[in-house]
Amino acid sequence: MSRFRRASLGSGPGYVPGEQPPDAGSWIKLNTNESPLPPSPRVAAAVAGAVGSLRRYPDPAAEPLRSALAAHHGLTPAQVVVGNGADQVLEACFRAYAEPGDTVVMTRPTYSLLTQLARLGGVSVQAVPLGPGGSLPQALAAAPGVMRLLCNPNSPTGTWVSPEEVAGSLSGCGGVLVIDEAYCDFAPASCIPLLRDHDTWLVVRTFAKSYALAGLRVGYALGAAELIADLVSVLESYPVDRLALAGAAAALADQAHHRHIVESVVAERARLTMALRLAGWLVEDSHANFVLGRPPGGDAVGIAAELRQERILVRHFPGGDQDDRLRITVGTPEENDALLRAVGAPLA
Ligand SMILES: Cc1ncc(COP(=O)(O)O)c(C=O)c1O
Repeated sequence: MSRFRRASLGSGPGYVPGEQPPDAGSWIKLNTNESPLPPSPRVAAAVAGAVGSLRRYPDPAAEPLRSALAAHHGLTPAQVVVGNGADQVLEACFRAYAEPGDTVVMTRPTYSLLTQLARLGGVSVQAVPLGPGGSLPQALAAAPGVMRLLCNPNSPTGTWVSPEEVAGSLSGCGGVLVIDEAYCDFAPASCIPLLRDHDTWLVVRTFAKSYALAGLRVGYALGAAELIADLVSVLESYPVDRLALAGAAAALADQAHHRHIVESVVAERARLTMALRLAGWLVEDSHANFVLGRPPGGDAVGIAAELRQERILVRHFPGGDQDDRLRITVGTPEENDALLRAVGAPLA
């Protein structure tokens, strides 16, 4: 029996992804940070074009997408590994860099999957509370651990720290540092340039958010070739299928569409934030494609239930520091209007 099987039999909370309504079409789904806009029209054509080759296995190294990503980020192909979503890449990080009994360090709160991956791998978590406004606590660098994980922008807070703060705070920290930049295209700057001077650092990215391809499952990691080789060694032989490779490459090639998605989300995020604040919600500035807000009175569960009656899904994280808050994905202008109307906020 593998260590993963044994660990999964233990008790404790599992990873609960956002709810998927059976008839998603008629719901306003603002609970899992998907893109409000569709992917580039080039994606459908590329996926259709790849169908004719389905009897063949895909390229094991995810070419030509890997080389396209390397060129896009100014790196070599050996510095890139592509996986079945950022989640698979994060899972590979745990298998590559942590042994059962090891400790990994992460912030609290952070992406809820990370704790679950640690549990499945028999790895202990040292969770250090984020500082005011989402600033990096000193313990994130100082606590002993084989791996540190930082989501930047963070989920569910939406807070972001600049590459300068990341470098100042974490340069010289022990072990591998994994910077999850799933939402970074909605923020002012990326930590990718820091990889040049930090050969134990990795940046993880996804096509699920700013490329609108959550359903295709493509994520990747960037870092020093040796570190990337470690990840490749724990991944399966063909982590990404032919249709996903073709679709993601087409989306990457359409940077104008990508920018359109990012700009639309950022504009609507500002409107949503402002309107919720006007209605008395406590909303931190977000640098992601969602906002986290405390409704007046703090009855997040009650508001989520009322929204559900209106067939609007938002995300509540029970039990922890965020219990009185809701995470709301930035939707289309119409979806955001429906949400604002439902909570009695002004339509700016
Ligand atoms: C911080 C963070 N990282 C990674 C992911 C997952 O990315 P993917 O859909 O590519 O697995 C999510 C999904 O919501 C996320 O919030």
